[in-house]
Amino acid sequence: MSQNWNQERKKDEYYKKAKKQEYRSRASFKLLQLNRKFKIIKNGDSVVDLGAAPGGWSQIALELVGEDGLVVAVDLNRIKPFPDYDNFWSIKGDFTQEETLNEIERTLQGKTQVIISDAAPKLSGIKDLDQLRSIDLARCALKISDHILKYKGNLIIKVFQGEGYPELLKDIKKKFQTVKTTKPPSSKKKSGEMYIVGRGFRKEGR
Ligand SMILES: C[S@@+](CC[C@H](N)C(=O)[O-])C[C@H]1O[C@@H](n2cnc3c(N)ncnc32)[C@H](O)[C@@H]1O
Repeated sequence: MSQNWNQERKKDEYYKKAKKQEYRSRASFKLLQLNRKFKIIKNGDSVVDLGAAPGGWSQIALELVGEDGLVVAVDLNRIKPFPDYDNFWSIKGDFTQEETLNEIERTLQGKTQVIISDAAPKLSGIKDLDQLRSIDLARCALKISDHILKYKGNLIIKVFQGEGYPELLKDIKKKFQTVKTTKPPSSKKKSGEMYIVGRGFRKEGR
C-alpha cells in the first residue's frame, strides 16, 4: 500500500472511530448504518456473514443478535475468534464452493434468518474484471440464500455496480418481498459499491 493511501486512511473519520471503539474494520459502521435504517438483524437471530474477515460486520452482528442468537462467519482468510462470545463460529473457506456451503449447513444445523455479504474479490486493478467478479460473488450469496435462508428472512449484499448489476437486482426482486439499494454514509463516495437489501424471503431455503 502507498504512503498516501496510509495517510488518507488515518485521516478517515470512520477509520478513527473504528480504532477508538475497537471495531476490527471501518466497515462495521456500514452494517450499523444499514441496520439502523432497514432493521435487518434482530435480537435472537442467526446470521451468516459471507466474506467476513477481519470480522467488523460479525462484531456488529454479534452485538445485535445478543446471547440468544448466533453468527457464522465465512472467509478465505482466517477470522480471529471473539473471546467474549461463545455464539460465534468461523469457517475458513471459499463460499463459492459446495463443500463450504455444506460446512455452513452443518454449523447452522438448520436455516438462518439473515445472510449478509460484504465479500469483495481480490482487486486485480482491472476495473471491469473486478466488477464482474463482484457480481459473481453476489450471485453466489444469492444462491446460498436458496439453500439456507428461512422464509421471511433478510439479506444484505454488497456489489460493485456495472455489467450484470441490473439483472442481479431483478433476480433478487423475484425472491424478496421488498428490495432496496443503498449506500450508507460510511461508504466512500468515490467507491462504486452499492448495498442491496432484500427483506422477506419469499420461500424457505431447500
Ligand atoms: C471488504 S472485506 C470484508 C470486510 C468485513 N465485512 C469486515 O467488516 O471486516 C471482503 C472479504 O471478502 C472475502 N472473500 C472474497 N471472495 C471470497 C470467497 N469466494 N469466499 C470467502 N470469502 C471471500 C475476502 O477474503 C475479504 O476478506
